[in-house]
Amino acid sequence: MIMSALKDMLENLKKLPVNLLESARRRAPATSDRTRSQAIFANLFLHINSTRVNINSLRPLYTLGVGIASATFFSILSLTGILLMIYYKPSATEAYNSIKDIHYIVPTGRFIRNIHRWSAHLMVITVLLHMVRVFYTSSYKKPREWNWVIGMGLLVLTFALSFTGYLLPWDQLAYWAMTIGVNIAGSARELTDAAGITSLIDAGGLMRETLLGSKSLGEDAILRFYFLHCILLPILLTALISIHFWRIRKDGGLSRPDEPEDEPRISLHNGQPVFPRDPQKTYGLMAVIKGTGPNVNNGPEDTLPSWPNLLYAELAVFIICTAIALGLGLFLDAPLKELANPNIPENPAKAPWYFLGLQEIVSYSAFSGGVLIPTIVLIGLALIPYLDREKNYVGIWFSNRNGKTVAFLSLVFSIIITVSLLAFTIQYGWLRKWFPEIPQLFITLINPGTLYALLFSLWSLLIIKRYNSIRLGAIALFTCFLVGFLILTFFATYNRGPNWEFYWWPSMWPAH
Ligand code: HEM
Repeated sequence: MIMSALKDMLENLKKLPVNLLESARRRAPATSDRTRSQAIFANLFLHINSTRVNINSLRPLYTLGVGIASATFFSILSLTGILLMIYYKPSATEAYNSIKDIHYIVPTGRFIRNIHRWSAHLMVITVLLHMVRVFYTSSYKKPREWNWVIGMGLLVLTFALSFTGYLLPWDQLAYWAMTIGVNIAGSARELTDAAGITSLIDAGGLMRETLLGSKSLGEDAILRFYFLHCILLPILLTALISIHFWRIRKDGGLSRPDEPEDEPRISLHNGQPVFPRDPQKTYGLMAVIKGTGPNVNNGPEDTLPSWPNLLYAELAVFIICTAIALGLGLFLDAPLKELANPNIPENPAKAPWYFLGLQEIVSYSAFSGGVLIPTIVLIGLALIPYLDREKNYVGIWFSNRNGKTVAFLSLVFSIIITVSLLAFTIQYGWLRKWFPEIPQLFITLINPGTLYALLFSLWSLLIIKRYNSIRLGAIALFTCFLVGFLILTFFATYNRGPNWEFYWWPSMWPAH
């Protein structure tokens, strides 16, 4: 009797791995269409995916995988961030040394910090690329307008998350970059000063103090930025990403080319139904990736089970992103300059790279570059789906041949305008140089930034009139701003040196 119980136990021990797996997954192995669907449906994490996925959504050149990449980098940031919190001390007197400890003493500390730093940059890049992909494939159109607006919220939160982390090392780089940010926060004073009402309504001063917790950048500010960076913004991002994913499903899955309305889904021939495509047919993932699969329109017959097709695709992006983050973390150290010193300004003091384009405009007017133009751009972007109500070309890169032509012409137009205006200002300066006494309000309203916005808008109106299409006007405006942003970012990174002077290359900056 005892022997048989022991035998049973041994037998159960042998079956332990199989039984453990079975009890965890609460379903039979995914071998048929039904159990594959269950694999997705019955899993807490996987059920954000639908049980079947349209073939178009699996095409790497459609989504570019950058939405999943953004989510991957956010997960890596959350994980490494929690680990960094174990040693980091949010105080002006201890922050710098705690980062030095992490970098030089804590085992694997430098590696974790490097991964965190590079993933932050990569997340900003992939979120921007994702927005570009969604825009050029018209994926913001009905019924996805609201998810585009939620995406705008995600974009702002991503910038805010990255920016608030910038201060935490409390080194010279962080301190002076943050000084620029804080001055921008207070820049509404440019307007109230001009109107002579700052003593009555000091919106700029209020915003500055709300951010800093005091009059200057110090102990209170670091605690506020720590709270924003480690608690509030990650919570908001997690909540908004969840809603974003939920909306993708509720809006009918990912966008895809519309089926032409006059193509009947099922026709009759000699009284027998004829399907445009074989509804029973399933297509191999490789055929989809190579583009040798079916010619896709979005009939239900053009779907594959999400398990394993979509999961493999998501896993591939996840593995590639993780490998890039680990590789960078291994070979490239995150920067750490000297301890922040309020008496020795960095020259040039530069904002994080994604704000450098704006810093170029801020060099004329903090309000214009830091508040006015970003607000106009963000509102303009958020309104796109509500102004462009044309229903066609959803899911098609650049819409049609005219779309490609307009995108190309707008690229050339933006390069010419942006580079010419930069060259002009380098050669001849701007209003302040010609008229030293000019009130700042004029420069706030008339500067290269506002001129770019005006010229790009006029170009877009011209395209709408020429092609009689709002979508093409949107492509023109978006392309102009995108190219302008890239040129200004490159220019401010490499061609602006001490005192924000022009240099052909950083190696030409004066040594002292
Ligand atoms: C933290 C930032 C973000 C994450 C993690 C994220 C994630 C995703 C993912 C995974 C998808 C599925 C398709 C794909 O991978 O391309 C998606 C779709 C979408 N996203 Fe985002 N996203 C973010 C930010 C944004 C931004 C900035 C926008 C636009 C302003 C945006 C607008 C959309 C829209 C409209 C869709 C549906 C696209 C379609 O149906 O083809 N998202 N997002």
